[in-house]
Amino acid sequence: MKKDLQSMVNVAVFASGSGSNFENIATSDLPLSIKVLIVDNKDAKAIERAKRLNVPYEIVERSGKTKEEFEAEILNVLKDKNIEYILLAGFMKILSAEFIERYDRKIINIHPSLLPSFKGKNGILDAYNYGVKVSGVTVHYVDSGIDTGEIIDQEPVVLRDDDTLESFEEKIHEAEYKLYIRALKKVLEVKE
Ligand code: GAR
Repeated sequence: MKKDLQSMVNVAVFASGSGSNFENIATSDLPLSIKVLIVDNKDAKAIERAKRLNVPYEIVERSGKTKEEFEAEILNVLKDKNIEYILLAGFMKILSAEFIERYDRKIINIHPSLLPSFKGKNGILDAYNYGVKVSGVTVHYVDSGIDTGEIIDQEPVVLRDDDTLESFEEKIHEAEYKLYIRALKKVLEVKE
């Protein structure tokens, strides 16, 4: 599918770490214009990716600020950019209910488990340690709970007896790259 400038949807991506999901979205054929990548960590590898991909980025760190100040700074970065969706891609801060209400059903998250199982920061490790035979990936709208918002789509990942944590992680990430694009196509009503 060709990107058509007329019908591009403006988004912001939020990330805290490696940014591989951010890069996957940025290099996809989705009709998205990433107006800004927001990172809450100056050492995030995502920044290198943004530079390489020519995506504008802003570092907004949380330390030394109240949550209100942190979020006000983020809102300030977003203002005047006509942002239609915020895509969380490994963003490890919990947004306040006030922030989420401003973008009701406009914030989308990817989580590395089949929700509602294994919520929280360590979805991959928790599922692995539990010994599940099937886990997976979820893309969902963000609501004021933690990993509780309406599910948009899910992709299962089978754990084989010979999988290590590393090989399982790799499978999860591969599933994420496929699922985030598929889920966004659904949200944006992009025809295949
Ligand atoms: C991804 O596995 C994503 O699902 C997870 O962080 C990783 C970020 O990787 N997110 C969460 O656990 C959110 N609770 P990336 O920085 O390479 O995209």
